[in-house]
Amino acid sequence: MSDCGADRTGKMDAPRKLYVKSFGCQMNVYDSHRMADALAKEGYVETSEASDADLVILNTCHIREKAAEKVYSELGRLRKAKAETGRETLVAVAGCVAQAEGAEIMRRAPVVDLVVGPQSYHRLPDLLTEARAGRRPVDTEFPADDKFDHLPAPSLAATRKRGPTAFLTVQEGCDKFCTFCVVPYTRGSELSRPVAKIVAEAERLADQGVRELTLIGQNVNAFHGLGPQGRSWNLAELLHRLAQIPGIDRLRYTTSHPRDMGEDLIAAHRDLPELMPYLHLPVQSGSDRVLKAMNRRHGRDLFLDIVERMRAVRPDIALSSDFIVGFPGETEAEFEETMDLIAHVGFAGAYSFKYSPRPGTPAADLSDQVAEEVMTARLHRLQAALEASKRAFDRSCVGRTFDVLLEKPGRMPGQVIGRSPYLQSVVVDRPGAAIGSFVRVTITEAGPNSLAGRILPIPAPTSVPPLAALEA
Ligand code: 5AD
Ligand code: SF4
Repeated sequence: MSDCGADRTGKMDAPRKLYVKSFGCQMNVYDSHRMADALAKEGYVETSEASDADLVILNTCHIREKAAEKVYSELGRLRKAKAETGRETLVAVAGCVAQAEGAEIMRRAPVVDLVVGPQSYHRLPDLLTEARAGRRPVDTEFPADDKFDHLPAPSLAATRKRGPTAFLTVQEGCDKFCTFCVVPYTRGSELSRPVAKIVAEAERLADQGVRELTLIGQNVNAFHGLGPQGRSWNLAELLHRLAQIPGIDRLRYTTSHPRDMGEDLIAAHRDLPELMPYLHLPVQSGSDRVLKAMNRRHGRDLFLDIVERMRAVRPDIALSSDFIVGFPGETEAEFEETMDLIAHVGFAGAYSFKYSPRPGTPAADLSDQVAEEVMTARLHRLQAALEASKRAFDRSCVGRTFDVLLEKPGRMPGQVIGRSPYLQSVVVDRPGAAIGSFVRVTITEAGPNSLAGRILPIPAPTSVPPLAALEA
């Protein structure tokens, strides 16, 4: 039921304004879009200014302490702004901090009117009615059914505004229980969506102009969704099916776990031209002892073996990873093993973090926590090596020609920013270029944050051939 838009006499009010801010991972970005879509049906239009909003939703991240604390700084700013403007803005906290801290958020930040966990977004309209009545609801229930069933599809206008690339959640939650990680507690146990629903969503996105789909899940390659014949499908099978959808020219998936990198998923990188030559595969550490203490359920050798097998089927693959420095008990020699792994693999990109003890996780109780200065020094060294590795990969692209999907206007007039097969931003000069189309581009320059390229006067085939085929 909508409680805004029109009053009882049928007279239209001004639309209510919604400001959503996402922190953390891509699943939060996806969920934020779905919340905005659900609230559009309730008459809310999005605004880019919190000060202009009737409803502010902070979609939060709890993965590291810093991420969680950002939310409280943001809430402090909102409280001040509300006091200054006197505007009756409702403030909602969603996402993983909501799930982990529940009503505690309202005690710490009385400006908050509503707390909603990631499994309860379909109940947002009702929760807002309660919040407006001053009841300050907290909903962190885990439903037994698929929350996505209850969330409406985005409108054509919403999809167009978001451009030719889209995220699609295929699974949520994690059963791996790495000893440092809150995800199994905040997002719950692993749940895959049925294949038919994923295909229907992908077809709708393709109809609305999406050309590149990134399948997302906390443990996306553990996907085991119910297939059409009542049999469980794995991620490789799902990718093969989605590649058949007309208009879906590019597929990606994130985030994967090394233990679930099956042979058929690796083979899909050889057999599916739509599957982009890019793999984000978190390893966290190069030391077997640390990996065991992290309960990663794999050693250094398994990771290196996957890298080798991926490169055998797709020699040009761009590899990316996540790293944690200063896990409790990590010695200098163990950190060197991580540095050695980086040198060996040659990553095209990476995310790296200092270990952050998270309440309720087993590693937080370990006695041998690493000193902050030691972690800082290790992180600097690691990041310098990873940056050098990324720059080397980017430089190796200069002189190469590949397809670029044009995504949005650039900063300078006439410039357009597109996306390479390897997930790099590519800046090209093409006044009036059609956003959402592919162009063939020869890379001329590699800058710190993007590549620059020249568009070739030939139409782009929609998918990039493997390097081997380019050289043939
Ligand atoms: N401390 C530091 N980094 C963490 N990550 C997850 N939990 C923690 C933590 N407690 C990192 C991991 C993971 C990424 C999403 O965040 O590298 O892959
Ligand atoms: Fe967290 Fe990833 Fe480990 Fe799951 S596999 S517990 S999401 S780090």
